[in-house]
Amino acid sequence: MPCTVVVCGFFGDTGKGKVISYLALEDDLDLAARGGVGPNAGHTVVFKGRKYIMRMLPSAFVNERCRLLIGPGVLVDPDVLLKEVEEVNARGRVGLDPNCAVIEEKHKQADRKGYLKEKIGTTGSGCGPCNADRALRTAKLARDEPKLKDFLTDVPLEVNKAIDEGKKVLLEGTQGTFLSLYHGTYPYVTSKDVTASAICSDVGVGPTKVDEVIVVFKSFVTRVGAGPLPGELSQEEAERRGWVEVASVTGRKRRVAPFNFDLARRAIMLNGATQVALTKIDVLFPECAGARDFNELSARAREFVLKIEKELGVPVTLIGTGPEAEEMVDRRYDLGLKD
Ligand code: IMP
Ligand code: MG
Repeated sequence: MPCTVVVCGFFGDTGKGKVISYLALEDDLDLAARGGVGPNAGHTVVFKGRKYIMRMLPSAFVNERCRLLIGPGVLVDPDVLLKEVEEVNARGRVGLDPNCAVIEEKHKQADRKGYLKEKIGTTGSGCGPCNADRALRTAKLARDEPKLKDFLTDVPLEVNKAIDEGKKVLLEGTQGTFLSLYHGTYPYVTSKDVTASAICSDVGVGPTKVDEVIVVFKSFVTRVGAGPLPGELSQEEAERRGWVEVASVTGRKRRVAPFNFDLARRAIMLNGATQVALTKIDVLFPECAGARDFNELSARAREFVLKIEKELGVPVTLIGTGPEAEEMVDRRYDLGLKD
């Protein structure tokens, strides 16, 4: 996997953190770069019994050898970044592009009131207002923020050089396909495109350099904030099924619906997916918890996976069976996609 892009095919919160932390370890990644919007994301990584919620750093931090970069398209909240760097002890292997725009207090305040808060239900992290300032060409950039100077590096150059040298590179997307400013449920969307092409652009990688696009789906669909959710279940029904989750950044309860094949098919198309990662199969089929082999999954779970594969026309290569990074069925070996 010289260069792989990982994005979410629903509304975010499908488990990119889990999938990427698994790949960081299993494929021994050399370099991971974050694209996407910014600290509105919260990628959950559970590693060696400890839970991390990463809003700025790539989820590949679990591999101590892996270089961790943030592309120029990403918005940076300096306080969030510095806290995460200390939390996972990553100083020395973190790099930030000088052209990243910086979220300031005024952006957070503007994001926590009025239209954005009441009508859209944003995360309040300041991302929308900061991207607006960026479009107006008034946003401050990382190169002008003394707090960030130790981290500055030419991210597109580093990433492309690594790809050209045949190193193992992963580009990490944030949010989800249907939260895209262009392809999502406007106006109930985030402040940028977040499909695979946008993630490449955020990091400065051209489309000819990408080998694999992994689209992550959860075994059911969730959404936080306002906007349409086809097939939405009542909160009681969601609780009965054990599908209730709490948002990692905002602490809001997530809205819930069953797996949606129409949305999934469209996400496959919009992202040019070559592989699907399916997470939380153990929530749908508790007997699958902790499985590491496809044959350890129950018949009904295997049927669900094969149905997804058939409907989408893309192999389901990774299947999450629990919160820990390592709890994964990796079918790439059986499918001849990895040796
Ligand atoms: P914003 O990105 O904070 O402007 O929020 C716009 C919409 O996207 C709201 O519905 C948020 O709940 C949603 N959103 C933004 N980031 C994420 C994410 O990482 N996961 C899930 N939903 C998100
Ligand atoms: Mg999340």
